[in-house]
Amino acid sequence: MSAAAERQVAWGILGPGTIANNFAEGVRQTPSAMLLAAGGRTPERLSVFGRKHGVERLYDTYEALVADPDLDVIYVATPHAFHLEHGLLAISAGKGLMVEKPAALAARDVEQLVEAAKRADVFFMEAYKCRCHPQTARLVELIREGAIGAIQHIEARNGGMVERDPQSRLFDPALGGGGIFDIGCYPVSTVQLIAGAAQGRAFAEPVALTASGEIGPTGVDEIAYAEMDFGNGLTASIGCALRMAMDDTLVISGSEGQIVLPNPWRPGRNAGPSDACIVIETANGKREEWLYDPRQLFAFEVEVATRALLEGRKCAISPAMTPEDSILNARTIDRWRAALGLPVVDSASRA
Ligand SMILES: NC(=O)c1ccc[n+]([C@@H]2O[C@H](COP(=O)([O-])OP(=O)(O)OC[C@H]3O[C@@H](n4cnc5c(N)ncnc54)[C@H](OP(=O)(O)O)[C@@H]3O)[C@@H](O)[C@H]2O)c1
Repeated sequence: MSAAAERQVAWGILGPGTIANNFAEGVRQTPSAMLLAAGGRTPERLSVFGRKHGVERLYDTYEALVADPDLDVIYVATPHAFHLEHGLLAISAGKGLMVEKPAALAARDVEQLVEAAKRADVFFMEAYKCRCHPQTARLVELIREGAIGAIQHIEARNGGMVERDPQSRLFDPALGGGGIFDIGCYPVSTVQLIAGAAQGRAFAEPVALTASGEIGPTGVDEIAYAEMDFGNGLTASIGCALRMAMDDTLVISGSEGQIVLPNPWRPGRNAGPSDACIVIETANGKREEWLYDPRQLFAFEVEVATRALLEGRKCAISPAMTPEDSILNARTIDRWRAALGLPVVDSASRA
Protein backbone atom coordinates (compact mmCIF):
# COMPACT_ATOMS: atom_id res chain seq x y z
CA MET A 1 0.00 0.00 0.00
CA SER A 2 1.36 3.45 -0.90
CA ALA A 3 1.89 6.17 1.68
CA ALA A 4 -0.89 8.17 0.02
CA ALA A 5 -3.34 5.28 0.41
CA GLU A 6 -2.57 4.98 4.12
CA ARG A 7 -3.37 8.60 4.89
CA GLN A 8 -6.89 9.75 5.73
CA VAL A 9 -8.16 13.04 4.35
CA ALA A 10 -9.56 15.24 7.14
CA TRP A 11 -12.93 16.80 6.30
CA GLY A 12 -14.66 19.71 7.99
CA ILE A 13 -18.35 20.43 7.48
CA LEU A 14 -19.51 24.05 7.31
CA GLY A 15 -23.28 24.27 7.97
CA PRO A 16 -24.51 21.15 9.79
CA GLY A 17 -27.99 21.19 8.25
CA THR A 18 -30.14 18.53 6.59
CA ILE A 19 -27.87 17.45 3.79
CA ALA A 20 -24.71 17.68 5.88
CA ASN A 21 -26.04 14.69 7.85
CA ASN A 22 -26.13 12.58 4.69
CA PHE A 23 -22.70 13.79 3.70
CA ALA A 24 -21.30 12.87 7.13
CA GLU A 25 -22.59 9.33 6.60
CA GLY A 26 -20.86 9.30 3.21
CA VAL A 27 -17.57 10.25 4.90
CA ARG A 28 -18.08 7.46 7.46
CA GLN A 29 -18.46 4.95 4.62
CA THR A 30 -15.20 6.08 2.97
CA PRO A 31 -12.14 4.46 4.61
CA SER A 32 -9.67 7.06 3.30
CA ALA A 33 -11.73 9.95 4.70
CA MET A 34 -12.47 11.12 8.23
CA LEU A 35 -14.86 13.75 9.53
CA LEU A 36 -12.67 15.69 11.93
CA ALA A 37 -14.64 18.89 12.51
CA ALA A 38 -17.88 20.78 11.96
CA GLY A 39 -18.76 24.44 12.29
CA GLY A 40 -22.17 25.99 12.85
CA ARG A 41 -23.80 29.15 14.15
CA THR A 42 -26.57 27.36 16.05
CA PRO A 43 -25.17 25.66 19.18
CA GLU A 44 -27.98 23.12 19.68
CA ARG A 45 -27.94 21.94 16.04
CA LEU A 46 -24.15 21.77 16.07
CA SER A 47 -23.96 19.68 19.23
CA VAL A 48 -26.68 17.27 18.04
CA PHE A 49 -24.77 16.90 14.77
CA GLY A 50 -21.50 16.37 16.62
CA ARG A 51 -22.94 13.64 18.85
CA LYS A 52 -24.73 11.90 16.00
CA HIS A 53 -21.64 11.66 13.80
CA GLY A 54 -18.97 11.44 16.50
CA VAL A 55 -17.28 14.65 15.36
CA GLU A 56 -14.20 15.37 17.47
CA ARG A 57 -13.97 19.15 16.97
CA LEU A 58 -16.96 21.49 16.96
CA TYR A 59 -16.58 25.19 16.18
CA ASP A 60 -19.21 27.82 16.87
CA THR A 61 -18.14 30.01 13.98
CA TYR A 62 -17.37 29.17 10.37
CA GLU A 63 -14.17 31.24 10.65
CA ALA A 64 -12.88 29.08 13.50
CA LEU A 65 -13.69 25.92 11.55
CA VAL A 66 -11.75 26.87 8.44
CA ALA A 67 -8.79 27.98 10.61
CA ASP A 68 -8.29 24.44 11.99
CA PRO A 69 -4.80 23.59 10.70
CA ASP A 70 -5.50 19.85 10.59
CA LEU A 71 -8.32 20.07 8.03
CA ASP A 72 -7.61 19.28 4.38
CA VAL A 73 -10.97 20.17 2.89
CA ILE A 74 -14.22 21.91 3.79
CA TYR A 75 -17.66 20.79 2.64
CA VAL A 76 -19.92 23.86 2.40
CA ALA A 77 -23.56 22.90 3.01
CA THR A 78 -25.23 26.24 3.71
CA PRO A 79 -28.13 27.50 1.53
CA HIS A 80 -27.10 28.37 -2.03
CA ALA A 81 -27.04 32.13 -1.44
CA PHE A 82 -24.05 31.71 0.93
CA HIS A 83 -21.96 29.30 -1.13
CA LEU A 84 -19.80 32.05 -2.61
CA GLU A 85 -19.07 33.71 0.73
CA HIS A 86 -18.44 30.45 2.60
CA GLY A 87 -16.53 28.90 -0.29
CA LEU A 88 -14.20 31.93 -0.42
CA LEU A 89 -13.80 31.68 3.35
CA ALA A 90 -12.57 28.08 3.07
CA ILE A 91 -10.30 28.85 0.12
CA SER A 92 -8.79 31.90 1.79
CA ALA A 93 -7.86 29.68 4.74
CA GLY A 94 -5.96 27.46 2.29
CA LYS A 95 -8.45 24.60 2.46
CA GLY A 96 -9.78 22.51 -0.38
CA LEU A 97 -13.44 23.13 -1.14
CA MET A 98 -16.36 20.89 -1.90
CA VAL A 99 -19.37 23.14 -2.26
CA GLU A 100 -22.96 21.97 -2.47
CA LYS A 101 -24.83 22.55 -5.70
CA PRO A 102 -25.37 25.07 -7.12
CA ALA A 103 -21.80 26.27 -6.49
CA ALA A 104 -23.13 29.84 -6.55
CA LEU A 105 -26.13 31.78 -7.83
CA ALA A 106 -24.59 33.05 -11.06
CA ALA A 107 -21.86 32.03 -13.47
CA ARG A 108 -19.68 35.03 -12.63
CA ASP A 109 -19.76 34.00 -8.94
CA VAL A 110 -18.82 30.41 -9.79
CA GLU A 111 -15.96 31.82 -11.87
CA GLN A 112 -14.87 33.82 -8.83
CA LEU A 113 -14.75 30.65 -6.72
CA VAL A 114 -12.87 28.69 -9.38
CA GLU A 115 -10.37 31.52 -9.88
CA ALA A 116 -9.83 31.88 -6.12
CA ALA A 117 -9.21 28.12 -5.78
CA LYS A 118 -6.74 28.24 -8.67
CA ARG A 119 -4.89 31.21 -7.20
CA ALA A 120 -4.71 29.52 -3.77
CA ASP A 121 -3.76 26.23 -5.46
CA VAL A 122 -6.46 24.29 -3.59
CA PHE A 123 -8.96 21.62 -4.57
CA PHE A 124 -12.36 22.72 -5.94
CA MET A 125 -15.41 20.58 -6.65
CA GLU A 126 -19.15 21.14 -6.83
CA ALA A 127 -21.09 18.38 -5.08
CA TYR A 128 -23.20 16.64 -7.72
CA LYS A 129 -23.35 13.18 -6.20
CA CYS A 130 -25.10 11.57 -9.19
CA ARG A 131 -22.15 12.57 -11.38
CA CYS A 132 -19.92 10.44 -9.11
CA HIS A 133 -22.15 7.35 -9.17
CA PRO A 134 -20.90 4.55 -11.47
CA GLN A 135 -24.11 4.60 -13.53
CA THR A 136 -23.10 8.02 -14.90
CA ALA A 137 -19.66 6.77 -15.93
CA ARG A 138 -21.26 3.73 -17.58
CA LEU A 139 -23.81 5.93 -19.36
CA VAL A 140 -21.05 8.10 -20.82
CA GLU A 141 -19.24 4.95 -21.95
CA LEU A 142 -22.39 3.64 -23.68
CA ILE A 143 -22.92 6.95 -25.48
CA ARG A 144 -19.26 7.13 -26.56
CA GLU A 145 -19.23 3.58 -27.90
CA GLY A 146 -22.39 4.27 -29.92
CA ALA A 147 -24.64 1.77 -28.10
CA ILE A 148 -27.73 3.58 -29.48
CA GLY A 149 -26.12 5.22 -32.52
CA ALA A 150 -26.03 8.99 -32.96
CA ILE A 151 -27.73 10.81 -30.07
CA GLN A 152 -30.73 12.83 -31.24
CA HIS A 153 -32.68 13.84 -28.15
CA ILE A 154 -32.33 13.84 -24.35
CA GLU A 155 -35.18 14.23 -21.88
CA ALA A 156 -34.45 14.84 -18.22
CA ARG A 157 -36.81 15.70 -15.39
CA ASN A 158 -36.41 16.22 -11.67
CA GLY A 159 -39.30 17.36 -9.56
CA GLY A 160 -42.13 16.82 -7.15
CA MET A 161 -44.73 18.49 -4.97
CA VAL A 162 -43.37 20.39 -1.96
CA GLU A 163 -45.44 22.41 0.52
CA ARG A 164 -45.17 26.13 -0.31
CA ASP A 165 -43.47 27.53 2.77
CA PRO A 166 -42.27 31.12 2.23
CA GLN A 167 -39.76 30.66 5.11
CA SER A 168 -38.12 27.67 3.43
CA ARG A 169 -34.93 28.22 1.44
CA LEU A 170 -36.77 26.61 -1.51
CA PHE A 171 -39.35 29.42 -1.74
CA ASP A 172 -37.34 32.40 -0.46
CA PRO A 173 -35.68 34.35 -3.31
CA ALA A 174 -33.16 35.83 -0.83
CA LEU A 175 -31.89 32.31 -0.06
CA GLY A 176 -31.67 31.35 -3.74
CA GLY A 177 -35.10 29.71 -3.88
CA GLY A 178 -36.68 28.09 -6.90
CA GLY A 179 -36.65 24.75 -8.63
CA ILE A 180 -33.94 25.56 -11.17
CA PHE A 181 -31.30 26.28 -8.53
CA ASP A 182 -32.31 23.38 -6.33
CA ILE A 183 -33.14 20.50 -8.67
CA GLY A 184 -33.20 21.76 -12.26
CA CYS A 185 -29.44 22.09 -12.04
CA TYR A 186 -29.18 18.25 -12.15
CA PRO A 187 -30.81 17.85 -15.57
CA VAL A 188 -28.70 20.77 -16.86
CA SER A 189 -25.52 19.11 -15.68
CA THR A 190 -26.42 15.68 -17.04
CA VAL A 191 -27.70 16.70 -20.48
CA GLN A 192 -24.57 18.82 -21.02
CA LEU A 193 -22.45 15.82 -20.05
CA ILE A 194 -24.30 13.49 -22.44
CA ALA A 195 -24.33 16.03 -25.27
CA GLY A 196 -20.59 16.41 -24.74
CA ALA A 197 -20.06 12.63 -24.83
CA ALA A 198 -22.11 12.47 -28.03
CA GLN A 199 -19.89 15.15 -29.57
CA GLY A 200 -16.59 13.66 -28.35
CA ARG A 201 -16.04 16.21 -25.58
CA ALA A 202 -16.29 16.33 -21.79
CA PHE A 203 -19.43 18.51 -21.96
CA ALA A 204 -21.31 20.70 -24.41
CA GLU A 205 -23.08 24.03 -24.23
CA PRO A 206 -26.50 24.53 -25.85
CA VAL A 207 -26.36 26.87 -28.84
CA ALA A 208 -29.98 27.87 -28.18
CA LEU A 209 -32.24 27.69 -25.14
CA THR A 210 -35.91 28.60 -24.70
CA ALA A 211 -37.95 28.23 -21.54
CA SER A 212 -41.44 28.13 -20.11
CA GLY A 213 -42.74 27.71 -16.60
CA GLU A 214 -44.56 29.17 -13.65
CA ILE A 215 -43.31 31.72 -11.11
CA GLY A 216 -45.07 31.32 -7.76
CA PRO A 217 -46.34 33.99 -5.33
CA THR A 218 -43.01 34.18 -3.46
CA GLY A 219 -41.23 35.06 -6.72
CA VAL A 220 -39.42 31.79 -7.37
CA ASP A 221 -39.79 29.33 -10.24
CA GLU A 222 -42.11 26.54 -9.11
CA ILE A 223 -42.28 24.79 -12.48
CA ALA A 224 -39.70 25.26 -15.22
CA TYR A 225 -38.97 23.69 -18.59
CA ALA A 226 -36.20 24.35 -21.07
CA GLU A 227 -35.74 23.31 -24.66
CA MET A 228 -32.10 23.14 -25.67
CA ASP A 229 -30.43 22.83 -29.05
CA PHE A 230 -26.86 21.51 -29.06
CA GLY A 231 -26.47 21.69 -32.85
CA ASN A 232 -25.86 18.81 -35.28
CA GLY A 233 -29.41 17.52 -34.77
CA LEU A 234 -29.07 17.05 -30.99
CA THR A 235 -31.77 18.56 -28.79
CA ALA A 236 -32.82 18.24 -25.15
CA SER A 237 -35.96 18.92 -23.11
CA ILE A 238 -35.50 19.37 -19.40
CA GLY A 239 -37.88 20.15 -16.58
CA CYS A 240 -38.02 20.68 -12.85
CA ALA A 241 -40.81 21.36 -10.39
CA LEU A 242 -41.31 22.18 -6.73
CA ARG A 243 -45.09 22.27 -7.05
CA MET A 244 -46.02 19.47 -9.44
CA ALA A 245 -45.61 15.70 -9.52
CA MET A 246 -42.93 14.85 -12.06
CA ASP A 247 -41.09 11.70 -13.13
CA ASP A 248 -37.42 11.74 -12.16
CA THR A 249 -36.22 10.11 -15.35
CA LEU A 250 -33.58 10.44 -18.00
CA VAL A 251 -34.32 9.20 -21.53
CA ILE A 252 -31.74 9.37 -24.31
CA SER A 253 -32.89 8.68 -27.86
CA GLY A 254 -30.50 7.80 -30.64
CA SER A 255 -30.58 6.72 -34.26
CA GLU A 256 -30.39 3.06 -33.20
CA GLY A 257 -32.26 2.92 -29.92
CA GLN A 258 -32.94 4.38 -26.54
CA ILE A 259 -31.33 4.42 -23.09
CA VAL A 260 -33.45 5.00 -19.98
CA LEU A 261 -32.20 5.68 -16.47
CA PRO A 262 -35.19 5.14 -14.17
CA ASN A 263 -33.32 6.70 -11.26
CA PRO A 264 -30.76 9.15 -12.62
CA TRP A 265 -30.38 11.54 -9.68
CA ARG A 266 -30.72 9.56 -6.43
CA PRO A 267 -30.08 5.82 -6.74
CA GLY A 268 -30.72 4.47 -3.26
CA ARG A 269 -31.80 7.97 -2.23
CA ASN A 270 -30.08 8.90 1.03
CA ALA A 271 -29.59 5.62 2.81
CA GLY A 272 -28.32 3.15 0.21
CA PRO A 273 -27.66 0.65 -1.14
CA SER A 274 -27.29 2.76 -4.24
CA ASP A 275 -28.15 0.07 -6.79
CA ALA A 276 -29.00 1.45 -10.21
CA CYS A 277 -30.32 0.19 -13.50
CA ILE A 278 -29.63 1.28 -17.06
CA VAL A 279 -32.18 0.11 -19.65
CA ILE A 280 -30.92 -0.16 -23.22
CA GLU A 281 -33.30 -0.83 -26.09
CA THR A 282 -32.20 -1.36 -29.68
CA ALA A 283 -33.38 -3.43 -32.65
CA ASN A 284 -31.67 -6.38 -30.92
CA GLY A 285 -34.06 -6.15 -27.98
CA LYS A 286 -34.22 -4.67 -24.53
CA ARG A 287 -31.66 -5.33 -21.80
CA GLU A 288 -31.01 -4.06 -18.30
CA GLU A 289 -27.59 -3.36 -16.87
CA TRP A 290 -27.63 -3.37 -13.08
CA LEU A 291 -24.95 -1.79 -10.92
CA TYR A 292 -24.90 -2.84 -7.29
CA ASP A 293 -23.22 -1.02 -4.41
CA PRO A 294 -24.08 -1.23 -0.71
CA ARG A 295 -22.94 2.32 0.02
CA GLN A 296 -25.16 5.38 0.10
CA LEU A 297 -24.86 7.95 -2.64
CA PHE A 298 -22.83 10.58 -0.82
CA ALA A 299 -19.98 8.11 -0.31
CA PHE A 300 -19.23 8.25 -4.05
CA GLU A 301 -18.60 12.00 -4.09
CA VAL A 302 -16.60 11.78 -0.86
CA GLU A 303 -14.48 9.08 -2.44
CA VAL A 304 -13.92 11.01 -5.68
CA ALA A 305 -12.81 14.14 -3.83
CA THR A 306 -10.77 12.25 -1.24
CA ARG A 307 -8.90 10.35 -3.94
CA ALA A 308 -8.13 13.58 -5.80
CA LEU A 309 -6.80 15.14 -2.58
CA LEU A 310 -4.65 12.11 -1.79
CA GLU A 311 -3.23 12.20 -5.31
CA GLY A 312 -2.56 15.94 -5.08
CA ARG A 313 -5.05 16.85 -7.80
CA LYS A 314 -6.93 20.16 -7.58
CA CYS A 315 -10.16 18.90 -9.12
CA ALA A 316 -12.17 15.79 -9.89
CA ILE A 317 -12.05 13.91 -13.16
CA SER A 318 -15.12 13.92 -15.43
CA PRO A 319 -17.84 12.58 -15.28
CA ALA A 320 -17.60 14.01 -11.74
CA MET A 321 -17.91 17.79 -11.86
CA THR A 322 -14.81 19.63 -12.98
CA PRO A 323 -14.44 23.40 -12.40
CA GLU A 324 -15.03 24.11 -16.11
CA ASP A 325 -18.17 21.99 -15.96
CA SER A 326 -19.41 23.97 -12.95
CA ILE A 327 -18.91 27.27 -14.76
CA LEU A 328 -20.79 26.06 -17.82
CA ASN A 329 -23.57 24.64 -15.65
CA ALA A 330 -23.98 28.01 -13.96
CA ARG A 331 -23.96 29.78 -17.31
CA THR A 332 -26.82 27.63 -18.58
CA ILE A 333 -28.73 28.11 -15.34
CA ASP A 334 -28.31 31.88 -15.84
CA ARG A 335 -29.76 31.52 -19.35
CA TRP A 336 -32.65 29.34 -18.17
CA ARG A 337 -33.60 31.77 -15.40
CA ALA A 338 -33.24 34.79 -17.71
CA ALA A 339 -35.50 33.13 -20.30
CA LEU A 340 -38.17 32.90 -17.58
CA GLY A 341 -37.72 36.56 -16.66
CA LEU A 342 -36.09 35.77 -13.32
CA PRO A 343 -33.55 38.33 -12.05
CA VAL A 344 -29.80 37.83 -11.83
CA VAL A 345 -28.98 37.23 -8.17
CA ASP A 346 -25.19 37.22 -8.25
CA SER A 347 -23.08 38.73 -5.48
CA ALA A 348 -22.72 42.06 -7.31
CA SER A 349 -26.50 42.49 -7.57
CA ARG A 350 -26.92 41.61 -3.88
CA ALA A 351 -24.14 43.89 -2.63
N1 LIG B 1 -26.73 17.00 -2.80
C1 LIG B 1 -27.96 16.86 -2.44
O1 LIG B 1 -28.59 15.84 -2.61
C2 LIG B 1 -28.63 17.98 -1.74
C3 LIG B 1 -29.86 17.79 -1.14
C4 LIG B 1 -30.41 18.84 -0.42
C5 LIG B 1 -29.75 20.05 -0.37
N2 LIG B 1 -28.56 20.21 -0.99
C6 LIG B 1 -27.85 21.49 -0.95
O2 LIG B 1 -27.33 21.70 0.33
C7 LIG B 1 -27.45 23.06 0.72
C8 LIG B 1 -28.10 23.12 2.09
O3 LIG B 1 -29.38 22.55 2.00
P1 LIG B 1 -30.10 21.92 3.31
O4 LIG B 1 -31.40 21.42 2.83
O5 LIG B 1 -29.19 21.02 4.02
O6 LIG B 1 -30.33 23.26 4.14
P2 LIG B 1 -30.68 23.39 5.70
O7 LIG B 1 -31.18 22.12 6.25
O8 LIG B 1 -31.52 24.60 5.81
O9 LIG B 1 -29.25 23.66 6.36
C9 LIG B 1 -28.52 24.80 6.02
C10 LIG B 1 -27.38 25.01 6.99
O10 LIG B 1 -26.78 26.24 6.59
C11 LIG B 1 -26.52 27.06 7.72
N3 LIG B 1 -26.81 28.47 7.43
C12 LIG B 1 -25.90 29.45 7.40
N4 LIG B 1 -26.45 30.62 7.12
C13 LIG B 1 -27.77 30.39 6.99
C14 LIG B 1 -28.88 31.24 6.74
N5 LIG B 1 -28.75 32.56 6.58
N6 LIG B 1 -30.09 30.67 6.66
C15 LIG B 1 -30.25 29.35 6.84
N7 LIG B 1 -29.23 28.50 7.08
C16 LIG B 1 -28.00 29.02 7.18
C17 LIG B 1 -27.30 26.48 8.85
O11 LIG B 1 -26.30 26.14 9.75
P3 LIG B 1 -26.08 26.67 11.21
O12 LIG B 1 -26.22 25.43 11.97
O13 LIG B 1 -24.73 27.22 11.10
O14 LIG B 1 -27.09 27.68 11.60
C18 LIG B 1 -27.87 25.14 8.42
O15 LIG B 1 -27.36 24.12 9.18
C19 LIG B 1 -28.23 23.75 -0.40
O16 LIG B 1 -27.39 24.54 -1.18
C20 LIG B 1 -28.79 22.63 -1.26
O17 LIG B 1 -28.76 22.89 -2.65
C21 LIG B 1 -28.00 19.20 -1.67
